[in-house]
Amino acid sequence: MRIAVIGSGYVGLVSGACLADFGHEVTCVDSDDAKIAALKRGSIPIYEPGLDQLVAKNAAAGRLLFTNGLDAAVSSAEAVFIAVGTPSRRGDGHADLSYVYAVARDIAPSIRRFTVVITKSTVPVGTGDEVERIIREANPDADVAVVSNPEFLREGAAIEDFKRPDRIVIGIEDERARAVMTEVYRPLYLNKAPLIFTARRTSELIKYAANAFLAMKITFINEIADLCEAVGSNVQDVAHGIGLDKRIGGKFLHAGPGYGGSCFPKDTLALVKTAQDYGSPLRLIETTVAINDQRKRAMARKVSRAIGADIRGKTVALLGLTFKPNTDDMRDSPAISIVQGLQDGGALVTAFDPEGMEAAKACLSDVIYAPDPYTAAEGADALVLVTEWDAFRALDFPRLKSLMGNPLFVDLRNVYRRDLIARHGFRYVSIGRPTEDIAVALSSAAE
Ligand code: UDX
Repeated sequence: MRIAVIGSGYVGLVSGACLADFGHEVTCVDSDDAKIAALKRGSIPIYEPGLDQLVAKNAAAGRLLFTNGLDAAVSSAEAVFIAVGTPSRRGDGHADLSYVYAVARDIAPSIRRFTVVITKSTVPVGTGDEVERIIREANPDADVAVVSNPEFLREGAAIEDFKRPDRIVIGIEDERARAVMTEVYRPLYLNKAPLIFTARRTSELIKYAANAFLAMKITFINEIADLCEAVGSNVQDVAHGIGLDKRIGGKFLHAGPGYGGSCFPKDTLALVKTAQDYGSPLRLIETTVAINDQRKRAMARKVSRAIGADIRGKTVALLGLTFKPNTDDMRDSPAISIVQGLQDGGALVTAFDPEGMEAAKACLSDVIYAPDPYTAAEGADALVLVTEWDAFRALDFPRLKSLMGNPLFVDLRNVYRRDLIARHGFRYVSIGRPTEDIAVALSSAAE
């Protein structure tokens, strides 16, 4: 099948490469000439494991083309995916749909036979209706079916998520689109991925409801972690204990510094706005958003408390800056609030991140970037693990101790165990776990 993907950013590029790998003939379109030129040379503008090989393989096989020529790509395609960005609109938190609507206007004249136009971008309820209206207004003869097919791709695991999805959600209003969409995803039948056909508005809401639920689940365990700290329980054991209940499930119960990234913060906010507009507020999600924002700021205070009363003139070394590992994405990363909080308190911040330092430079100021964890830790009064990159899972603690001014390790991702770190003479602070061995604490309390 001939497919055009409009927008060669994160979602468009991953979707295009994976669809080509299924055997479809895919043309990825972008208005950014420099990006298209780079992609043609085989240079991938984002960091996503495995994407460069997948693009190279399918480009070499002639199934994956890159162009800025919208008309040729759309007029020859049976399916056209819209995969442009839907950032938060400045000031009000609504999703900014101007890019999606611009694509609808641009592709309309190029639709010359029955074409299925699919919104892959995360769009609020009713966007499909508007996309259809725009296309029909611009080209009254267009034989078009507008479909919602949201992505559920995690950065860092996007190819796996595309090829082995839990489900594929497809919202249609025109039955003719069902056959086309079935054909697009036919290769996934082998993986027994369920295709869920539903109404277009329902499909649009499924995406937001899924992300809001996951954000709420993380926020729930983060609050439980705070309570664990207050009462001396262990949040990892609580998560394990509740996660084995199949109605709850063990995933997305890792307590940490708060969720970030390109989806959860933006999508929860957009859903809250939609719900308010329709007079049906989602108070759980409103609270989730507020708790998460406060939490990211609170992490700097947690580090300060661990160091002592005053952090003025102290040096804090951060390990990891991106919102999660295996990405170079800094969008809404907890690291941003942490750095700002520490700098506001008068601390000097040094940092190392395996992939995110270039992106970090654009959103952080006055941070001293180091080429590795050990250089970052030199002379530091605290070492803070912010993002759980694999590279930080087996740190050389004797070496760190010899380099640091004060052996304090703040583990915001609960990667390590207190006893292992303490053995090396470090003070260890983590999330929702006892700072001292409970057994030791109890025995000293009894003395
Ligand atoms: C998310 C969704 O998972 C995906 O389905 C959607 O389409 C896009 O948004 P992504 O933002 O790439 O994907 O990352 P994800 O792995 O979901 O993590 C999001 C944030 O939550 C990260 O900051 C991560 O550190 C945090 N998180 C996740 C936790 O703090 N605890 C958890 O248990 C899980």
